[in-house]
Amino acid sequence: MTSETPGHETQETLSNLLTETRRFAPPADLAASANVTAADYDEAAEDRLGFWERAAERLTWAERWTNTLEWNPPFAKWFVGGKLNVAYNCVDRHVEAGRGDKVAYYWEGEPEGDSRTITYADLQREVCKAANALEELGVRKGDRVAIYMPMIPELPISLLACARIGAIHSVVFGGFSASALTSRIHDADAKVVITADGGFRRGAPSALKPTVDEAVRECPEIEHVVVVRRTGQEVATTDKDVWWHDLVERQSDQHTAVPHDAEDPLYILYTSGTTGKPKGILHTSGGYLTQASWTHHAVFDLKPDTDVYWCTADIGWVTGHSYIVYGPLANGATSVLYEGTPDTPHRGRYWEVVQKYGVTILYTAPTAIRTFMKWGDDIPAKFDMSSLRVLGSVGEPINPEAYVWYRTHIGGDRCPVVDTWWQTETGAIMVSPLPGVTSAKPGAAMRPLPGIVADVVDDQGNSVPNGGGGFLVVREPWPSMLRTVWGDDQRYIDTYWSRFDGMYFAGDGAKRDDDGDVWLLGRVDDVMLVSGHNISTTEVESALVSHPKVAEAAVVGATDPVTGQAIVSFVILRGSAEENDDIAAELRTHVAKTLGPIAKPRQILIVPELPKTRSGKIMRRLLRDVAENRSLGDVTTLTDSSVMNLISEQLPSAKSED
Ligand code: WT7
Repeated sequence: MTSETPGHETQETLSNLLTETRRFAPPADLAASANVTAADYDEAAEDRLGFWERAAERLTWAERWTNTLEWNPPFAKWFVGGKLNVAYNCVDRHVEAGRGDKVAYYWEGEPEGDSRTITYADLQREVCKAANALEELGVRKGDRVAIYMPMIPELPISLLACARIGAIHSVVFGGFSASALTSRIHDADAKVVITADGGFRRGAPSALKPTVDEAVRECPEIEHVVVVRRTGQEVATTDKDVWWHDLVERQSDQHTAVPHDAEDPLYILYTSGTTGKPKGILHTSGGYLTQASWTHHAVFDLKPDTDVYWCTADIGWVTGHSYIVYGPLANGATSVLYEGTPDTPHRGRYWEVVQKYGVTILYTAPTAIRTFMKWGDDIPAKFDMSSLRVLGSVGEPINPEAYVWYRTHIGGDRCPVVDTWWQTETGAIMVSPLPGVTSAKPGAAMRPLPGIVADVVDDQGNSVPNGGGGFLVVREPWPSMLRTVWGDDQRYIDTYWSRFDGMYFAGDGAKRDDDGDVWLLGRVDDVMLVSGHNISTTEVESALVSHPKVAEAAVVGATDPVTGQAIVSFVILRGSAEENDDIAAELRTHVAKTLGPIAKPRQILIVPELPKTRSGKIMRRLLRDVAENRSLGDVTTLTDSSVMNLISEQLPSAKSED
């Protein structure tokens, strides 16, 4: 590492400041019966393509592939020549195997008591009807269908109906604005929208249809709007509208699933880049389903006959695509599908759902875990969660303290926690512990999964030694990788394959610890440059969250005349902690002690909330504006834009020292 003058472009890769010595070995019974063992790493290392072939054989193919991988960098084709139907794999084959009565989804609406049990046989009938309905509307293989819905059963049914006929779905998260929906419809040139009158959100019906109407007014390419009646709200109708219950209910529940090519597109999912218009990430069929299904089997140790699995994400995000719909259904799992938020009608709702259904595997996000920490330990303690056996985390680096809290207060100190690193672009989990194999460290994603060749490299693309920091890359193609950016191959090349020669650049900072285990350090764009040191926001945030009074923290670099950038921290205190005049000094000292004086924040601001995107990621760009006293940028993708006003109001009392 080199140290340079402040503000100067530096060759230094990321500093490695945080040390963590805690380890949690897999429970013996889990290790003894685990789906995947240490031998799988060796097998995959010896013969990576053979390993993925065996994973693909877990699916049912109408025709076997002739070529496992065709790699014309950076364009990959997996299982070339193979044919399968994704919906058949997720639904019909389980019914044909005599498991039609097995529950696919326990659906739990937000209003208490509003629930529905859907077996695989039910799902088969509903998907067939919906596929027939789409065909009646003129939807054909390769056509794009936009889906803008609440978390109701018709949402996964719509995805599967598209998959069945080979139409490409483009799910737009139900919280997005009309203009976001319009631009995504235009970009994909969708011809149908599936939506609902609304959904339930925080105890009240929340309308979706007016947003769709506003968007569709600008989209002449849309021929039909299919509307599920969920809330019963009054809705305006247009001549493009058709009610789901009028259209779908009268269809036959028989539909032949024709096989599609392994490389036929399955879906587009838009992800917001740091700049410019959202990128339509394109996923195809055979490779995607292979990795979504295998990782769900391996990382969660799913036992389809006994587990009740719950991923709390929204299907509007890739987590919901891969780990509520395609992975679990391909594996014949029983899942919980929950419509609402964690605090409606009370802050114990998640734990009540765990207790009600006997959930055994829970997959959620660090932002939710830190919120539960803030609400207090006494809330989960009121519920019986002894059914849980594996816990997962995704979406952001999980701070060691939040990890340990999750393990202790949700997992009763017996459940392994798997911190799963992946992206919309990777399609499925890439770096993660395995619950029956790995002695996991709190906060570390640990190792690339078998069959995945990920690495941490320096500025020049050389692997960093143990103890070093740098950039996370993937060195070899993987089955569920994005195939391109929809309609823009050049953007695909520029964004992901140009930073380092022959490697996929994920945009995340990472370090390899002294044992060679991987820790994610946040987006490269968020790294702070303080007196010539590249300091990760994640490490400083984790140091803050390790203080008993802190529930959540966000850290940004603000321009500083002396150090180039200085660290400014926004901190939410735990429910039990009293704010007092000394807290800022106490926290600054705590960070200096934990990470070293270089990481000591210049300023600590105690705030009631943090600005987050709808998928729960902290919007550091906005916090940088506050920290540098700039006017606020675009806040339209915030969950609650009033949060920024609250934070700005705290500024006069900002506790700046030194
Ligand atoms: C970005 C991808 C993956 C599905 C949900 C988000 C961050 C995700 C982790 C993790 C550290 C993580 C990365 C990544 N991220 N999981 N376990 N540890 N960071 O999908 O919206 O495409 O975001 O989320 O920064 O690049 P996404």
